[in-house]
Amino acid sequence: MSDLSALDRTKLPQHIAIIMDGNGRWAKERNQDRLYGHYEGVVSVRDIVNACGEIGIQYLTLYAFSTENWNRPKAEVDALMELLVNTLRKEVDELHKNNVRLHVIGAMATMPPICQKELQEAMDITAGNTGVQLILALSYSSRWEIIEATKKFSQDVVDGKHKIEDLNDALFTTYLETKNFPDPELMIRTSGEYRISNYLLYQLAYSELYFTEVHWPDFRKPHLIEAIINYQQRERRFGKTSDQIQTNQ
Ligand code: IPE
Ligand code: IPE
Ligand code: MG
Repeated sequence: MSDLSALDRTKLPQHIAIIMDGNGRWAKERNQDRLYGHYEGVVSVRDIVNACGEIGIQYLTLYAFSTENWNRPKAEVDALMELLVNTLRKEVDELHKNNVRLHVIGAMATMPPICQKELQEAMDITAGNTGVQLILALSYSSRWEIIEATKKFSQDVVDGKHKIEDLNDALFTTYLETKNFPDPELMIRTSGEYRISNYLLYQLAYSELYFTEVHWPDFRKPHLIEAIINYQQRERRFGKTSDQIQTNQ
């Protein structure tokens, strides 16, 4: 466990992406229904958003519901959608007061209309906020995003707006859901699963990955600080040698 003073303020990640995993197992360990884990997970979301504000993290992307999660039992999917609506209604004033701006990435059209409405309202209310940029990945998967981007670029080629040979990393990025955000420097996954689960595959190309056994409903500010301290101890080489990095070449 760690406190804020242990952080190197000059080496903070700008953008942290999290796979919030383990809600179901956390609840099962307590002989409770999986939904109880999702409800408690909201407490962690609140704590981590506040912690990011306090630490000075500008972008926080949370994987809240994947494309694949639609395959869960209907009762769980329905409960998650209801939880989203209720949480937005309950939290939007506090988010706004804390200067947090809400964004969404994912296939919004596939979300229930009531979720779309609440999300749009929360995004409108917080649109002018300049603190933590909170990005919720909902009905999101990376392969979906990349395929959508490819379709949009292809259409622009057909419409004469671009030539195929114009396509490079910078241009492709403008077709992604995350076009307005920098790539995450740090990706955290809770609950001891060592996989990416179709999350930000393009954007995580050079992210530092951090895995913890802690289930999401137990994940709090000290765990986040621990993850950032771990990140700060890494040497990010981007293909270069360690010597090059140390002598700034
Ligand atoms: C993460 O917790 C929340 C969502 C995917 C919506 P899980 O529900 O995946 O919890 P486990 O992995 O079954 O424990
Ligand atoms: C990934 O968690 C999606 C979210 C956290 C929303 P899952 O628990 O659904 O991932 P898998 O299916 O076990 O890889
Ligand atoms: Mg899971």
